[in-house]
Amino acid sequence: MPLLAQDAAGVSLQEQVCRQVRAQILQGNLGVGQRLPASRALAMELGVARVTVEAAYARLEAEGYVNRKVGAGTFVAIDVLARFPARPTGGTAIAGPSQRGLSMQRTTLKAEGNAGLRACIPDMRAFPHEIWNALQARILRQAGHNALMEYGDPQGHLPLRQAIAAYLAQSRGVRCHAGQVMILASSQQALQLLALTLLDAGDTAWVEDPGYHGARAALQAAGAVLQAVPLDEEGLAWQGNVKLPSPRMIYVTPSHQYPLGMRMSLARRMALLELARQHKAWIIEDDYDGEYQYDHKPLPALQGLDDAGCVLYVGTFSKVLFPGLRLAYVVAPESLIPALSSARRACDGHSSYLQQAVTADFISQGHFGAHLRRMRLLYRSRRDCLLEAFSPLADQLQLVGFESGLQCAGLLPAGHEALLTPAARAAGTQLRDLRSAHLGPQQVEGWMLGFAGLNHDEIKREAIRLIGTVRKTLVKA
Ligand SMILES: Cc1ncc(COP(=O)(O)O)c(C=O)c1O
Repeated sequence: MPLLAQDAAGVSLQEQVCRQVRAQILQGNLGVGQRLPASRALAMELGVARVTVEAAYARLEAEGYVNRKVGAGTFVAIDVLARFPARPTGGTAIAGPSQRGLSMQRTTLKAEGNAGLRACIPDMRAFPHEIWNALQARILRQAGHNALMEYGDPQGHLPLRQAIAAYLAQSRGVRCHAGQVMILASSQQALQLLALTLLDAGDTAWVEDPGYHGARAALQAAGAVLQAVPLDEEGLAWQGNVKLPSPRMIYVTPSHQYPLGMRMSLARRMALLELARQHKAWIIEDDYDGEYQYDHKPLPALQGLDDAGCVLYVGTFSKVLFPGLRLAYVVAPESLIPALSSARRACDGHSSYLQQAVTADFISQGHFGAHLRRMRLLYRSRRDCLLEAFSPLADQLQLVGFESGLQCAGLLPAGHEALLTPAARAAGTQLRDLRSAHLGPQQVEGWMLGFAGLNHDEIKREAIRLIGTVRKTLVKA
């Protein structure tokens, strides 16, 4: 490994070592499983103290780049070719079954087609499978006949609840401790249990319009009467509408409104909390993809601003790890946890303790933070690629809500959605339309456009196809 000698531009020696090793890994020069030089040897080669190299290796391990095995050495932990198959320096496209990284099954799944422009889909190809598998193998080795194999507490695995509480406090401005966190299978299950536990049949629940169909379904299943509330550029816009019935529950997506993508302003957050206080209403804050903020610092979660204990914060690992994991969580006032636990017991007991344990280690060992940082960069570049790729259609398709999340919305002129959606689907484009997100009369037309699950070539191909379909269909109409 070629090496530095001195402190260039004020960058510490430890940071220089980290940067060099990261670069070697990310450029594919050091493959997964490859052993790094022993810290003593590298320190001598660089003319730095051994402790500097040790500290750099420890940091790289926390970031998920390497694994350190006592007595054996330090080994590359990620397979960059499998993670970024379309990297220009990485040669050709996708690793085949005989190459590194992807299992036969995964390769087959991928060959069946990408996610298209479907919204809300993360990139499972970029997931650090090796790290996950290694953590799981270690837990299984250690677990033996222990508690992970028995029935467990419906509230969830304590180490995972602790890891989530620490993460939420640091990254999302949520104020909670592990006793307020409950692990669930999905946000959808969280919405269902919250609605069943807190609502009586006939209670009014306010929902964003357009809004998330999953939330509507969960609230309706609990017997709630849904009240569609319109949106403006600051989020839920109830002010001035005196006819709205008093809410018992209000469902919102403040970080990245589903489906239009605006962020609820701080002033609106404060007003919403005050409204909930006046009506003694619960607020469900669904923070489904709030981790991915590209252009601005995240605003504090509603939960962190709430002094009345009326906000129920829902988060999911579906977008930040992978949806098949089926792990999500709710942060609620501690007094609600027994009722939620008995609702969960009556439903399916609890989520898999093995997967909870792997997730806990993944977070507490620093892999989650490293994964989020990498994905944020990757998705931002894909977002930029999508904006560029659709720019030739700017007169027909106005892109909004792209400052965060895994997708943005493309708004169409009135009357175009009904004409263009069937044509686009017939041409093979997978799209979610905005019509199905409306509860009341349709206010905006267009599509949700997902970019996170596609690499740049795939985004460009999808854009060319959709732009072609739109132009052809409009010429014929
Ligand atoms: C607004 C919103 N909330 C929640 C979810 C789903 O999360 P989960 O897979 O945990 O049910 C989605 C999925 O796309 C979503 O769009």
